[in-house]
Amino acid sequence: MAIKRIIPISSGKGGVGKTTFAINYSLALSRHGKTVLVDLDTGTSAIRNAIDVPIEKDLYHFFRRNESLNACVTGLDDRLDPERRYRNFGFVAGPMHLIDEITNFGAGHKAKLIAAINQLDADYVILDMRAGLDANVIDFLPFSNSGILIFTPHLPSATLAASDIVKAILFRKLRLIFSKESPFFETMGGRLDFWRLINDLIDRVEDVYDSSVQNLDAFALDLAQNLGDHPITRTVQQTIDEFRVHYVLNLFNGVEDSFNTAVKPFIDNLTSNVSARCGVTNLGWITRSDAIHRANCNKIPALLLRPEKKAPKQDRVGKELEELRMMAIGLEPPPSRKAPAPAETTRGLSEGADALSNQLNVLKTMFDQKKNDDYYANFDYVSQRALFTMRNRRPSEFGDTRIYTPSEMLTSLFAKSNVPTTMDWGELE
Ligand SMILES: Nc1ncnc2c1ncn2[C@@H]1O[C@H](COP(=O)(O)OP(=O)(O)O)[C@@H](O)[C@H]1O
Ligand SMILES: [Mg+2]
Repeated sequence: MAIKRIIPISSGKGGVGKTTFAINYSLALSRHGKTVLVDLDTGTSAIRNAIDVPIEKDLYHFFRRNESLNACVTGLDDRLDPERRYRNFGFVAGPMHLIDEITNFGAGHKAKLIAAINQLDADYVILDMRAGLDANVIDFLPFSNSGILIFTPHLPSATLAASDIVKAILFRKLRLIFSKESPFFETMGGRLDFWRLINDLIDRVEDVYDSSVQNLDAFALDLAQNLGDHPITRTVQQTIDEFRVHYVLNLFNGVEDSFNTAVKPFIDNLTSNVSARCGVTNLGWITRSDAIHRANCNKIPALLLRPEKKAPKQDRVGKELEELRMMAIGLEPPPSRKAPAPAETTRGLSEGADALSNQLNVLKTMFDQKKNDDYYANFDYVSQRALFTMRNRRPSEFGDTRIYTPSEMLTSLFAKSNVPTTMDWGELE
């Protein structure tokens, strides 16, 4: 089996089309490799209600009947997929009825499910996450990227919540690095003053009602001023700089509107409350379409419906992706045309306000070029961009190869960093 890539789909709020996206995106990806979609929003049974096929085994059988997760994967049938175009797609349904122990599972259930997801036989695993940020959600998220965030125009609370997810993931990693379980702590040789200083600062940044440290960039600056060039300072800066955000805009309704009511507020909010340093990549968008909604109501994923018009312009997408690929591997300078290529949206925001407005301009241009695409082309584009990203970037940036437990995360963090086993921590202040 090739190396598996796991992509959680999350949103701060429900109702933004997370499940709709997760299903159709998984179908699109399955044209490129074996893809399994797992319903982790187990309270709503949303996936089984959106795909009208008989389900023999679901998460109930995994938790209560000791079936392997691989045995609980359901494929499409001849009615939904007569030409077997999507034979590489499968999904793990949530239980038929609300079962509290499966909806709000404890640590034991969670560990069992994480281990089983890591063992799933697939090239791509897509997780339809529950909205919100409780431990049942966040423990399935990667430590160093956002998976795919879904948000949508005209829903400010969902946009705000999307950047809160980034914040929560980053803070989880920082807290882990500076926890007493961390090898970092051992190197402090019992220096509890340092440990308290850091954790107190982290508390203050995370507390939205405490304005003394606005965001992680202020936190990093504070550390640099207090500690100078110190392992703690470097670790915090590196954690922020390496973090990657990937998002898709659903219910796209035109360039200006989506841009002003979703993209800009998202990036502004991320910049002021989390950090201006992490890289933000737009993977595309899904247009608002009655056909998508009708398909949901009829329990047939929209991508399984035959396009009414002629096939989407695959060639243009293909050509553009080829250009991206050439640029990424350094074979070719970016084409010199007025419109910047979408690859530039992957650049981090670390150059400050200029970079922010540049990023926004690039997104605008991309939207302008593609605003007439239909939803088939949208899903094709997003899946191609994701595949491109996985080929060219590290798993830690997008599509991790497994769901790391905290102790695995610590091990891998400290295996590759050059933190010595003992260090001179100097004096405080
Ligand atoms: N691109 C779209 N165009 C039209 N309707 C959509 C689109 N995406 C989602 N919807 C509709 O929005 C509602 C919420 O979608 P759903 O996928 O269940 O959201 P979530 O999983 O975030 O709660 C559904 O009625 C769905 O049919
Ligand atoms: Mg849902």
